[in-house]
Amino acid sequence: MVGLYLRVLRYLRPYWGVFGIAVLASLIFAALDAFSMALLIPFMRTLFAQTDTAVEGTAAEGAAPATQAAEGDDLLEWLLDGTLGRFVDMSAPPSEAIQGIIIFLLVIFLIKNVFDFLRNYLVAWVEQAVTRDLRNEVYDHLVDLDLGFFGRTRVGQIVSRLTHDVEQLRTLVTKEQSKIISSVFEFLSVLAIMIAISWKLTLVSIVVLPGIFAIWGPLLRRVRRGDRTILNLAGEVHSHIQETLSGIRLVKASGAEDHERKRFSKVTWAYFKAFIRTERFRALSHPITEMVGALGTVVILWYGTRLVLTGGEIGAEEFIGFLALSMKLYSPVKYLGKMPAIIQPGIVAAGRVFEFLDAPIEIRERPGAREFEGVRDRIDFEDVSFSYRHGEPVLHDISFRAEAGSVTALVGPSGAGKTTLVDLLGRFYEPTSGRILVDDVDLRDLSIDSLRRNLGIVSQETVLFHDTIRANIAYGIEERVSQEEIERAADAAHASEFIDRLPSGYDTVVGERGTQLSGGQRQRVAIARAILRDPPILVLDEATSALDTQSERLVQQAIERLLEGRTVFVIAHRLSTIQRADRILVMKDGRVVQSGRHGELLDEGGLYGKLHALQFESPVGAPGDAGL
Ligand SMILES: Nc1ncnc2c1ncn2[C@@H]1O[C@H](COP(=O)(O)OP(=O)(O)O)[C@@H](O)[C@H]1O
Ligand SMILES: [Mg+2]
Repeated sequence: MVGLYLRVLRYLRPYWGVFGIAVLASLIFAALDAFSMALLIPFMRTLFAQTDTAVEGTAAEGAAPATQAAEGDDLLEWLLDGTLGRFVDMSAPPSEAIQGIIIFLLVIFLIKNVFDFLRNYLVAWVEQAVTRDLRNEVYDHLVDLDLGFFGRTRVGQIVSRLTHDVEQLRTLVTKEQSKIISSVFEFLSVLAIMIAISWKLTLVSIVVLPGIFAIWGPLLRRVRRGDRTILNLAGEVHSHIQETLSGIRLVKASGAEDHERKRFSKVTWAYFKAFIRTERFRALSHPITEMVGALGTVVILWYGTRLVLTGGEIGAEEFIGFLALSMKLYSPVKYLGKMPAIIQPGIVAAGRVFEFLDAPIEIRERPGAREFEGVRDRIDFEDVSFSYRHGEPVLHDISFRAEAGSVTALVGPSGAGKTTLVDLLGRFYEPTSGRILVDDVDLRDLSIDSLRRNLGIVSQETVLFHDTIRANIAYGIEERVSQEEIERAADAAHASEFIDRLPSGYDTVVGERGTQLSGGQRQRVAIARAILRDPPILVLDEATSALDTQSERLVQQAIERLLEGRTVFVIAHRLSTIQRADRILVMKDGRVVQSGRHGELLDEGGLYGKLHALQFESPVGAPGDAGL
């Protein structure tokens, strides 16, 4: 826990200057605060001297007892003389002196509040700066993480940690941090003045303090455990919202609104319960410290009155000043007592945020990785095996060669491992064993960036961002391409036909995930994107299976053009274009069970023969259906 806390504090480093000023402002504020309390003493002395005068009629006599009492305490006198005494003539007539004290008090208050403003403002400044840095750092790391990580982690949990948890952590860094420092200082400065008034009374008033911490220990452990549950459930709430909203079509189409409502209220109920259970302990922190504080006050009242009444050791004015100060003394102690409960969620949140920050990036570039500049001769898969989860292989010893400029088709039932195979090609995952070579260079020796830049993927689920059509087509290379190039790509993809009819043309914003476009239109935008990037290696993963016949014919032509001069991997359910592929790999359960050209495979029969027969006999997959 301490380690986590120190790690959080490291984020303060760039801002130590500003933070230092903030802390300084807090300290000055605390000192002035304690001091303004001490000013009550001369005020009351003068006031009582005044009343005494009124009753007894002589100023000199009335002033005497106050001075007497004061003489016992050099420290306090020294402090007051050095400050108030310089500005206000205390030997002046009481009404005049009181006026002076009031004005002095006002000035002290004014200065005190200037520092109050300063500390609040600067603390907020540092707090936001640290939050920004931390969020950016987590995000930077997050986008570098492998697809495998995102397969394991729910998006809602990620969002929750980047928003809610970072928010929790924020106050830990600065607000609570500066409060701790200023509480300690406040405590010390109040303590100093109290000792100056009477060390005996001070001693008595602090004996109760350790009690606060003694009671706290056991409660704190429960609070910590509870906080961990709470944050986890907050992530679940996020996840649920995020997942159902992105699948809202399915929810509605399945009439599952009630089902989702129930599931959601279960999560919010669990959150509520966890929160309340933890709060029960956290809320105890206040009354407990309050009670201990009250106990302290009782002791002060009892012992202080005795001191005033019996010995004349301190005057009544000092005693009242002391009492006021003791309240000030208890408040930082009360805070420090509660502090562990207050910062607990921040510590737990820090742990969760750092967990992401520490998540290893498994697919890394080797030092001295080469730039990838396209395929000269061939791509080889050599005994490639892969598993997402340990012990559950999805690909088994796949070996084949794809010549540069050729079309390799992958067919087979769904779940056979086709998508996984092409994902390995982009190094989204790494083979568990075996290797993939481009012109005899292992993929792992190539720079990831250059590899992916040279790889175009059009898949069944097209991803569009909530942005203009232009930005979606030119995604990632926007600065490098002109409007003409974008339009040419859109033309080639048969996308310009519908884009030109949109209200703002290329500037039309397509809605989140492109919901304002039809499936065919989205697909054509994705193809335009691939054409524009002009990649030497192209992967078409069931690029047309979501399309109707009409748009499929258009897309088909676009794709024909796209294939020219590239090394292509085509995954398809429907077999007609595949007939022209240079090599067809038939996959089943992670293995290549047949390979060859269309004609050869038909002669062989086997799985390919079956797939072919199924398609051309069934009335749905009619011939002429140009499916890829
Ligand atoms: N991200 C993933 N995590 C775990 N298993 C996966 C993941 N993606 C796919 N699989 C599994 O790997 C196998 C092959 O999937 P995939 O390559 O998508 O098949 P295809 O594209 O041929 O339909 C399937 O059994 C699937 O359940
Ligand atoms: Mg697939």
